[in-house]
Amino acid sequence: MAQLKAAIFDLDGVIVSTDHYHRLGWARLAGELGIPFTEDQARRTRGVDRMASLKVVLGPDHRFSPAEMNELAARKNAYYTELIRQITPADLLPGAVELLTELEAHAIPRAIGSASKNAAPVLELLGIAHRFDAVVTGHDFERGKPAPDVFLTAARRLRVPPANCLVFEDAEAGIQAAHAGGMKAVGIGRPETVPDAERIVSSLAEIHYADLIALMMNSNGEKP
Ligand code: BG6
Ligand code: MG
Repeated sequence: MAQLKAAIFDLDGVIVSTDHYHRLGWARLAGELGIPFTEDQARRTRGVDRMASLKVVLGPDHRFSPAEMNELAARKNAYYTELIRQITPADLLPGAVELLTELEAHAIPRAIGSASKNAAPVLELLGIAHRFDAVVTGHDFERGKPAPDVFLTAARRLRVPPANCLVFEDAEAGIQAAHAGGMKAVGIGRPETVPDAERIVSSLAEIHYADLIALMMNSNGEKP
């Protein structure tokens, strides 16, 4: 049982619907390489950093050198950054702004904990950068999700103990990262995609401040 003192949000797939653009970028690269890019691979690129995503796309048997892999990752990023130029506040996912407003009204600090090195420009395009007290991105840590570093860095910057932070995540690797950091997690998606989250909702529109308090207070690990 712990008091809620901070909320840490993943960005892609939680606050904004950029997953589609990541997927298009990888699909274009895979098409150029003449390799398949399946639905399962697309799911496994969620939450993990760019190089880890590339390894998912290439599969275990590829023969690319580290230098070639850097070039492939940069090529995908060029496609992705071109695509996200069209982002506007209309790409905010349902309930995101409302929940941020509710947390702000209750003086609960908010952070971004994202694997993406493009998180800062995406927040600017969405017009919500000022709503976060800390923004931790792929530039700020070495080990990506499922390592807890991203969320522990966010907690440290907010000066809140990990046990008092609640994470919002749409990827399995992100839920694992939250748990590895000693934090509870709300999973955005379906039970198949975020099975271990303490609470699962299909969007942030389904959850409110009172639910978060109850979730943090629930000490027996039950899923309310
Ligand atoms: C995560 C996405 O938020 O960021 C992943 O879910 C992506 O799919 C990762 O690979 C890294 O993003 P970027 O923008 O640094 O290539
Ligand atoms: Mg995500």
